[in-house]
Amino acid sequence: MQTDVRKKLLEAFTNHEDEYLSGQYLADLIGCSRTAVWKHIEDLRKEGFTLEAVRRKGYRITQTSKTVSENEIRLGLKTNTLGQQIHYEESVESTQKIAHRLAYDEAPEGTLVVAEEQTCGRGRMDRAWHSPKYTGIWMSLILRPNIPPPKAPQLTLIAAVAVVQAMEQMTSLTPQIKWPNDILIAGKKVTGILTELQADSDRIISVIIGIGMNVNQKEEDFPEELRKIATSLMQEEGVEIDRAALIRAVLTKLETLYQLYLEKGFYPIKLLWESYAISIGNNITARTLTGNIYGKAAGITEDGVLLVEDLEGKTHHIYSADIELER
Ligand code: BTN
Repeated sequence: MQTDVRKKLLEAFTNHEDEYLSGQYLADLIGCSRTAVWKHIEDLRKEGFTLEAVRRKGYRITQTSKTVSENEIRLGLKTNTLGQQIHYEESVESTQKIAHRLAYDEAPEGTLVVAEEQTCGRGRMDRAWHSPKYTGIWMSLILRPNIPPPKAPQLTLIAAVAVVQAMEQMTSLTPQIKWPNDILIAGKKVTGILTELQADSDRIISVIIGIGMNVNQKEEDFPEELRKIATSLMQEEGVEIDRAALIRAVLTKLETLYQLYLEKGFYPIKLLWESYAISIGNNITARTLTGNIYGKAAGITEDGVLLVEDLEGKTHHIYSADIELER
């Protein structure tokens, strides 16, 4: 199916949730015959959507498929920029890699790369990121903010807030953020965020925000060594989560926060981030490349840098580290 026809059809079903849309209405909308509409509806069915067709009433989507395909995400997406271009693949090495290539080829701000599986998913500090098929959300988003390169880490914190808010909207869980980019539920990691830059010395060309969310994995889907430290939303909530709806929720929350950030700066985001942060006010060990720092996590700076007050009362600025929480 042509992309613009698909886009128009899905937009129409999005704007008329639960309503029947007549064949003639859809034909006028996309500028084709009713027979052609019927063929497009058949194509959507082949992609896994369940569409009801009732005589004299028309068509209605009653059930969506279980993938995170472009169509699946588009149905119900109400953002202006984020996710307006979607690049979907069954299996990739890493969505980051594809997003970097697309960003280099001038893909517009908001372009989303999403895959059902990553065979070589990457985490921070060159660690591997386990990304099994059809279970999680493995996505990378291209942003092009007009901010100086040193401010880019703030975008990780914005993304973390957006993910927490999306999870709160879709579940009854209470996720928390562990600086800078881990989202935990009941002390176990449910999401990681990897922010990478394409920049000149004084200008950001693009920021690639990679988000890996454990959504519908069962305990046995995690490798043995991760079972004690990682969890999924389904494990915590007890029911399967609609991954495409969760992606839409993340895009919607992120668009609002990103806009707020561009208009009002980092301060309102900092307040939100701190309200979700697990570590602030508690004793932690920051494992940095130059050694460990033990002390109280006092907060974050305007630039998103973690402040740790050691036992002598000295404040350390932590730019990059693994954080261990005191139990
Ligand atoms: C971390 O916690 O270390 C960050 C993990 C980031 C994983 C995501 S999954 C989508 C995107 N593609 C990747 O290869 N990595 C990020």
